[in-house]
Amino acid sequence: MLAGIKDILVISTLKDIPRFKDLLGDGKDLGMNLSYAIQQEPRGIAESFIVGEEFIGTESVSLILGDNLFYGQNLTGLLQEASGLKQGSIVFGYYVTDPQRYGVIEFDENKNVITIEEKPRIPKSNWAVTGLYFYDNNVVNIAKSLKPSARGELEITDVNCQYLKSGKLKVKLLGRGYAWLDTGTSNALIDASMFIKTIEDRQGLKIGCVEEVAYNMGYIDKKQLYLLAEKMNTDYGEYLIRIADEKR
Ligand code: G1P
Repeated sequence: MLAGIKDILVISTLKDIPRFKDLLGDGKDLGMNLSYAIQQEPRGIAESFIVGEEFIGTESVSLILGDNLFYGQNLTGLLQEASGLKQGSIVFGYYVTDPQRYGVIEFDENKNVITIEEKPRIPKSNWAVTGLYFYDNNVVNIAKSLKPSARGELEITDVNCQYLKSGKLKVKLLGRGYAWLDTGTSNALIDASMFIKTIEDRQGLKIGCVEEVAYNMGYIDKKQLYLLAEKMNTDYGEYLIRIADEKR
């Protein structure tokens, strides 16, 4: 949403899609258009461009993995710049202690990217590729041309390597002022929750509050924000009223 993207396709399993639909609906309340698609089998992240081919149409596209969490100063600016992409691709690198769990970037001495390797046993750097990607429309054809990896998946790293080979991959490194957290394990989810709670409690401002973001981005107006708030008889609803009440 912060990237200025209003048309979103949520891809998940047959079992989980009804839950997402139930939770998020068609997005109209947030001034957005949400669609849903099922990935029948866990055949890899890159398959999302095949599942989503019709949704993507002739446009550029961004993909974010559902278990990735980003936080940091001027993230919005970074995202809006990336979403203006017309040609090639943009991915983000982040320094981690356990790069072997991720796509890992190898650089030359001038910080040019030489390779990206998926979950290497011996990583060539500590820089992991995050789960946020921006591509031109060619990504659909690239995804269709991929062969499954040893783990039986269409690898997003193979997509990135194809862009890299043709000189069309931009890697932006997120520095120490950013947090990139991954919530894919229960421990990681607890870590991320504590991080968010600490900052939310300190500031009294919410992180990733979709109604607030929709309002700040101009997707909905003050009246619509009040309407959303009134439907919730909770602290969360009170927070939305506070946001709507604030003079801007
Ligand atoms: C996936 C990608 C990997 C990327 C990671 C980011 O890993 O394959 O390249 O670094 O997401 O979260 P997976 O979720 O398959 O372990």
